[in-house]
Amino acid sequence: MAGNWKMYKTPAETSAFFEEFRPLVAQSQHCEIVICPPFTNLVAAVEAARGSRIAVGAQNIAWASEGALTGEISGPMIRATGATHAIIGHSERRQYFCETDETVLRRTQAALVSGLSPIVCVGERLEEREAGHTEEVLSRQFQQGIAGLTPEEFACIVIAYEPVWAIGTGKTATPEIAAETHRTIRAEVRARYGKEAADDVRILYGGSVKPDNARSLMAQPEIDGVLVGGASLQPVSFASIVNF
Ligand code: PGA
Repeated sequence: MAGNWKMYKTPAETSAFFEEFRPLVAQSQHCEIVICPPFTNLVAAVEAARGSRIAVGAQNIAWASEGALTGEISGPMIRATGATHAIIGHSERRQYFCETDETVLRRTQAALVSGLSPIVCVGERLEEREAGHTEEVLSRQFQQGIAGLTPEEFACIVIAYEPVWAIGTGKTATPEIAAETHRTIRAEVRARYGKEAADDVRILYGGSVKPDNARSLMAQPEIDGVLVGGASLQPVSFASIVNF
C-alpha cells in the first residue's frame, strides 16, 4: 500500500502526519506500507518512521549516480536518507517533464544499482483508452520501459497501473476494468519473463483510490496493492485504505 504525496507537505507537516498515522497502522501486518513524500521530506519521513514497519520512498530518481544534472537527485543520495523505494515513470513525470519509456528504464536500473525498490508506473491516457489503444500503449510501455531489465532485476520491481484518466479526477477504474488491465500487463510479463515471474510480480492499482473503494479494488485477485495520491495525505484516510 503506497502513498504518493506528490508536491505536498513540508518536513514539519511530514512529522505531524507520521505521529498521527503510526498508531493507526500499528496492527497492520498484512501488507507493506510505503510513503513517498517530496525529496525535501525524505529525511524527516525516515526519522519519523523509525521503529515502525513503514517504508519511505522517493517520487523519482536520476539515471546517473552523480554528475552535471541540475535538479536531479540520485540513487545514492536517496539511499543515504534511509529511503528504500522510488516511484518511477509516474504519468505526471511523463506528461509534464518529458519522461519517456527509455528514461523510465534507465531510472529503474539506477534504482536497482542503489538497492532501492522501484515502483514503475504505466497507464494509458483517456484518448488512448477511448480509441481502443489501451493494450497497445501498455505493451509499448512494458516493452520499452521494463522489458530491458534482466529477470533478476525484474524480480525486484513493483508495477503500478495508473490509468491517467483516473488520477486525481475522482473517476476510479471499476475493479473489473482495473483487473482486466492488470491481466494484460501480467500477460506481457509472462511472455517476457515466464509464468513464475508473472505470478510473483506485484501490480498495484492507482487512480482515485479512496477509503470507500479500496476494499472492492483489493477484492480483485489481480490487484496486489494500491498507489494512492490525494487520499494518502490525511492519516485517517490513508490508514483506512491500508486497513481496508
Ligand atoms: P490520486 O493519484 O489517488 O490522487 O488519483 C494517484 C497517483 O497519481 O499516484
